[in-house]
Amino acid sequence: MLDDAQPAPFTPAHVPGVMQPMSLPQIVSAARRNALETIPAIAYRQPMVSGKTIIRWHMVMDPGALRRIMLDAVDDYPKSELTPRLLRPAIGTSIFTSEGDEWRWQRRAAAPIFNHRKMVALSPMMTAAADRTAERLAKSIDDGFDGTGVADVMDEMVTATFEIVCDALLSGGEGLDRREIGGAITRYFDTIGKVSILDIAGVPNWIPRPSQLMNRGVMNGTVEMVDKLIASRRASLESYEGADDLLGYMLRAEDPETGQKMDDATLRNNLLSFIVAGHETTALALAWSLYLLANDNAALDRAADESRAANGQGPAAAEHLEHLPYIRQVLDEAMRLYPPAAMLSRTARVDDELCGREVRKGDLVTLPIYALHRHELLWENPLQFNPDNFAPEKAKARDRYAYLPFGAGPRVCIGMNFSLMEAAIILATLLARLEFAPRPGHTPEPVVTMTLRPKGGMPLKVTRRAQ
Ligand code: HEM
Repeated sequence: MLDDAQPAPFTPAHVPGVMQPMSLPQIVSAARRNALETIPAIAYRQPMVSGKTIIRWHMVMDPGALRRIMLDAVDDYPKSELTPRLLRPAIGTSIFTSEGDEWRWQRRAAAPIFNHRKMVALSPMMTAAADRTAERLAKSIDDGFDGTGVADVMDEMVTATFEIVCDALLSGGEGLDRREIGGAITRYFDTIGKVSILDIAGVPNWIPRPSQLMNRGVMNGTVEMVDKLIASRRASLESYEGADDLLGYMLRAEDPETGQKMDDATLRNNLLSFIVAGHETTALALAWSLYLLANDNAALDRAADESRAANGQGPAAAEHLEHLPYIRQVLDEAMRLYPPAAMLSRTARVDDELCGREVRKGDLVTLPIYALHRHELLWENPLQFNPDNFAPEKAKARDRYAYLPFGAGPRVCIGMNFSLMEAAIILATLLARLEFAPRPGHTPEPVVTMTLRPKGGMPLKVTRRAQ
């Protein structure tokens, strides 16, 4: 029985599983509108669901089978054809979109760039951007937010993480036009980067999709911008040799086994993929965290108290992170309920068996992280917001493959430490100074096209926290 003094746990916005089998046109239209609407209800209760819609497919929610796909037999489960089809026109051949030897040498070369020491070196940029974001929000409070008292925190978080990725790439960020890049990425994912009926029908990638032909040049401006930056950095030997930013690190990066360095196109594609893969995902983790906290006063106060004890009213910095364990629990829980990368996919390269079921060469294997993170066999009260799901003893007891916001195995997100550091710094900085409350009557609908976004942004009431 619930104690009267205890408020009921918050059950945030959710897209329930589909009860009826879907026809091909229904799947295509749901996948283009909101991929969460393609997840069958039984996927939240069973370890694996299989079917055939022109091609054979499997949805895998069993941690043991996920471990096989992402670690033990990783070479037998390359990213599905869909990943390069959707992403290559934007980010070419890069760590994100390659397989086999091409992926291996690039990943080996780039891995040291994201080590802890380098992340700490980049962290003052994160602290500065977090401070500017809190100031901007505080100023909007003074200006009355156009009389509404409400800010779109999704938009604010995208601004903050975009500033950080630009500063981290080029210590200073000069030369990158956020409006151009943001606009191009949005246009891209609304057209070329959207699932087409030809993808679901298994039509090979070399047959161009109509949207691809019609929107061929959307990324041109962004590509040119990054190319110019690389050229000017190469031309100035001094900053090329010494620059402590991602561009500098990448220019100097080499495969430790072969000494191979990235040519300009590979370098550009990887920098673009850091921008595309890195900033919106982290902004989403933050926006969903703020939504969850805004609806749970006890968690909000606990997180704010912790932030104030660690960093006072000032911005949080890397050295505060060890004193911010609850902030990290909130972020982990937000990425459980709303994993920014909510649906991953692979293709079986050989015949195999998962959960005792036959998987044939060529089958599509989807990893619906959203369903895994709300799975009834893996989580207590899976639909409720509870940052204590990530209290140290609980997190330690859990199967590593039950919680996969950053993936796992050799293809685990290369930017994980970067984004966890920036997200904790931003969240702790905001909560020490500001209070967030829901906008009455608004429930953000979770929608997955490429990432898991709140439809219509994330409007929240923002006020100053009492001194
Ligand atoms: C909250 C923020 C982020 C989330 C949730 C996230 C999630 C993921 C996931 C799930 C994967 C694995 C995809 C798969 O296995 O199919 C991945 C890979 C990747 N991520 Fe992230 N990511 C985030 C931030 C970043 C940042 C900040 C960067 C770069 C600065 C980045 C760059 C990459 C790259 C390059 C890969 C491909 C790695 C490889 O295939 O070897 N991500 N990310």
